[in-house]
Amino acid sequence: MKRVLILGDLPGDGAERLAGRCEVEVHHGEGLGEEGVRRLVPGFHGLLTLLIHPVSERVLAAADRLEVVANCAVGVDNIDLAAAQRHGVIVTNTPDVLTADTADLTWGLILAVLRGIVSGDRYLRRGDFHGWRPKLLLGRSVGSVVLGVVGPGRIGQAVLARAAAFGARTLYHGPSRLPEGRERELETEWCGFEELLAASDVVSLHVPLNDETHHLMDARALRSMKKGSYLVNTARGPLVDEAALAEAVASGHLAGAGLDVFEAEPAVNTRLLELDSVVLLPHIGSATVETRTRMADCCFEDLHTVLVEDGVPARAVVKPVSRGG
Ligand code: GLV
Repeated sequence: MKRVLILGDLPGDGAERLAGRCEVEVHHGEGLGEEGVRRLVPGFHGLLTLLIHPVSERVLAAADRLEVVANCAVGVDNIDLAAAQRHGVIVTNTPDVLTADTADLTWGLILAVLRGIVSGDRYLRRGDFHGWRPKLLLGRSVGSVVLGVVGPGRIGQAVLARAAAFGARTLYHGPSRLPEGRERELETEWCGFEELLAASDVVSLHVPLNDETHHLMDARALRSMKKGSYLVNTARGPLVDEAALAEAVASGHLAGAGLDVFEAEPAVNTRLLELDSVVLLPHIGSATVETRTRMADCCFEDLHTVLVEDGVPARAVVKPVSRGG
């Protein structure tokens, strides 16, 4: 029987179902780092990883039997895809199933920053609420703002689609334009990156992390954002220079930010922690019972496809040329 290593405690019964067909070992997967993963992988044919697990060239070189890595996330920036290709290892991820929940959480952050939902809660708990006042905690009317979405992929489009319900105007930027019919459906318009930064009251990031997008929002880009606007990031932390963001908010150039992801998770820039107008969440974009169960199920299905059926999953982001399917 082929051997599978599961790095994490996942919802659902996928591990038990796969156990009839493969030898399954579950490791809690925490605090492993590259070296920890490297030490565990020899002898396993399948590996289920979380986004906290680096699957580098060194890990893949040590994985003498590895055929497939099923990454329980849509982002695959924790995996060296070129190295996986060289080592003939299939890599799969979990797109689609988390799109709606991540877009919903993005809107949760947009509403939270525009309407002071979290700072209002803190204000009340501090005992500062002494009655209704006409000027108490005035936010921004959601229907009056321009939302700029950077990265019109699945999640970016789902964020744009929700804007109509709030009456917010939207712009988007990506390397290429969406088909005209889709733009019409989403009631949105393409514009250049700089133009989007200058025109948006809320900029929301939905691009994958790679060499080109690392620190996409650096000090210069943050300065190009409209004065009094907000940055929302539910994609990947290193897209934003966190120290520069803290400075942009502290100086009053930005009115605030909503972040679900951080540059060096689980660490968070200490200046950001002190800013009341910044809403911080612990990377929970896809964290619902339904979605996290579906994500785990996708991974177990893909491990089964490769290791039991000798196939190539439709979700594979790396498909070795040598393998049939
Ligand atoms: C979560 O961040 C994911 O990539 O699925």
